[in-house]
Amino acid sequence: MNYQEEYQRSIQEPEAFWKDQAKQLDWYNFPETILSKDIDGIHHWFADGEMNTCHMALDYHIEQGRGDQIALIYDSPVTDQKRKYTYTELRNEVAKTAGMLQALNVKKGDRVIIYMPMIPEAAIAMLACARLGAIHSVVFGGFAAPELAVRIDDAKPKAIMTASCGIEVSRVIEYKPLLDKAVELATHKPDHCIVFQRPQHKCKLDQTRDVNWRETVKTAPSAPCTPVKGTDLLYILYTSGTTGKPKGVVRENGGHAVALKYSMKAIYDIEPGEVFWAASDVGWVVGHSYIVYAPLLHGATTIMYEGKPIMTPDAGAFWRVIEEHQVKGLFTAPTAYRAIKKEDPNGELAKKYDLNCLKTLFSAGERLDPATHEWLEDIFKVPVIDNWWQTETGWAIASNQCGIEKMPVKLGSATVPSAGYEVHILDENGKQLPRGEQGDIAIKLPLPPSCLTTVWGDLERFKSGYLTTYPGYYLSGDGGYYDEEGYLFVMGRVDDVINVAGHRLSTGEMEEVIGKHPHIAECAVVGRNDELKGQLPVGLVILKTDVQLSDDEISQELVQLVRSEIGAVAALKEIHVVDGLPKTRSGKILRKTIRQIFNDEEFVVPSTIENPTTLDSIKEIVS
Ligand code: COA
Ligand code: AMP
Repeated sequence: MNYQEEYQRSIQEPEAFWKDQAKQLDWYNFPETILSKDIDGIHHWFADGEMNTCHMALDYHIEQGRGDQIALIYDSPVTDQKRKYTYTELRNEVAKTAGMLQALNVKKGDRVIIYMPMIPEAAIAMLACARLGAIHSVVFGGFAAPELAVRIDDAKPKAIMTASCGIEVSRVIEYKPLLDKAVELATHKPDHCIVFQRPQHKCKLDQTRDVNWRETVKTAPSAPCTPVKGTDLLYILYTSGTTGKPKGVVRENGGHAVALKYSMKAIYDIEPGEVFWAASDVGWVVGHSYIVYAPLLHGATTIMYEGKPIMTPDAGAFWRVIEEHQVKGLFTAPTAYRAIKKEDPNGELAKKYDLNCLKTLFSAGERLDPATHEWLEDIFKVPVIDNWWQTETGWAIASNQCGIEKMPVKLGSATVPSAGYEVHILDENGKQLPRGEQGDIAIKLPLPPSCLTTVWGDLERFKSGYLTTYPGYYLSGDGGYYDEEGYLFVMGRVDDVINVAGHRLSTGEMEEVIGKHPHIAECAVVGRNDELKGQLPVGLVILKTDVQLSDDEISQELVQLVRSEIGAVAALKEIHVVDGLPKTRSGKILRKTIRQIFNDEEFVVPSTIENPTTLDSIKEIVS
């Protein structure tokens, strides 16, 4: 097949194209309406189809004779455990977990928050919610209690599913105190917290609110799949925006299943029965899509890895997993590849393993820098494929479409748009820019299946954040360009979102947290390029008068504050006390200029600047 033919058909005949893809799945009632618009003018896919994502991902494959095939492999170097689940075993565990939730009165449309480490029960919990038509919202385990509390208040879950602890290399992170604190901080109170006790740490349960997962599930009945409509929600996943309040990206069942199933062959060139490994975390969108849903919808085998690319025990960890489980495609973030490269620059550890099974390395989360790309190609001699995507879309907006037509790879480019994504580069007036010119990356509506249809509980935020800047387009928030041959280059965010070790964070949110400190008069947080993590936040603060603490003491307090309010993943470690921040005459902080100085980029001193000498003190800090 040819990429251009496939892509052009998806753009010119979207309904026929996606109807064909939908036929690859087992619906209870196949949708008659493929694409529709609601009264708010928002597009939806497969509105009248009846289905259940868990049925499509598990029960259907068992009916088709895949019951004894391995569905999920749990590999945990941090606990020295491995476990394999066949499709039948996984379905049975999921059905009982759904039965447990049902007995706790969780029903279709109810929300369930999942705050879990990388253990199979996290995937089981997600699939159990899907089975009941309940809407899950997974919160990344590295977020602190206040972040969890904000999500509890926004999603208003009936239940929260958690574990007694997570393990960071060798450090046991107790989850229960974080959960208790979050529930205390939140206005909304869940009826139940279901706690999976891990042997590494057992926590005390509150007899009225908490449920012992292991004990309760033993006697729970198996729940059947509840039919839902294609447009009923499967999950909410919170992501950072430009303000302090995270956005609840919603995912509809129908479009999600169709797009993800399609992507497994089209983008990743994986056949049912093969092993695909997304080395990410279920707390992020990559984890939702490519640890849990897509491989299972496709009848493939997925891996749930509880470990790091290095230190568990060394930089050969990924290659050990690939050999041991015969992984065909690995998908992870550039930061993970860079961490391995730093520890094992000549690939000596990789040579210890037979990696013949590995056909492709995939990368996403941030732009794959050319140096890391070349290193991977040199060491592993397989195609290295960059994917550009966002929590909002749930699957790659652009990639080399490996299962359709492998195109020559260009360093630094995400290659070409995936089916259904009409990607344009626009200037500030919404005019399409010619090839070679950089601008805002926008996607012409309608978006293909799986993309968000609103922000949970906040349609206005969805419209104002994504749809109003360029009418008729979705604003991605990224900037970039097409080269002369039509390859897409995504160059980074044009807003205040930064990417730290593949984790999407809001500098605006960090500023809000720092601003709460009693000694801080004003602050700005910008992203500074970092060789390992891609970007790291840097804070500039102006103190109130009469502060008795030293700059070092203030810095330490602020680092601790961000850690306890947002979480360790925010990785804010660099704070500078300054006398003034560069501002326009109307009082707007010139964050872009600050960022450019920190990153040693060329910049033009804005003509609107009120206090140009502040730039000199920032230059001094950087030098
Ligand atoms: N629960 C609790 N704490 C967590 C956590 C979790 N699930 N995940 C990360 N943290 C903590 C880490 O322990 C670390 O704490 P510290 O400051 O006390 O050391 C902090 O958050 C920062 O973590 P991280 O950004 O992961 O950095 P690291 O130095 O521990 O590891 C890498 C560096 C490159 C190995 C790691 O970032 C990595 O594997 N990245 C891949 C990211 C990824 O998969 N992203 C998904 C997009 S595809
Ligand atoms: P997230 O929603 O956490 O997946 O983060 C999405 C953001 O990560 C995008 O808006 C981009 O800024 C960045 N991103 C992800 N993948 C890539 C990529 N392959 N190239 C460039 N930027 C990327």
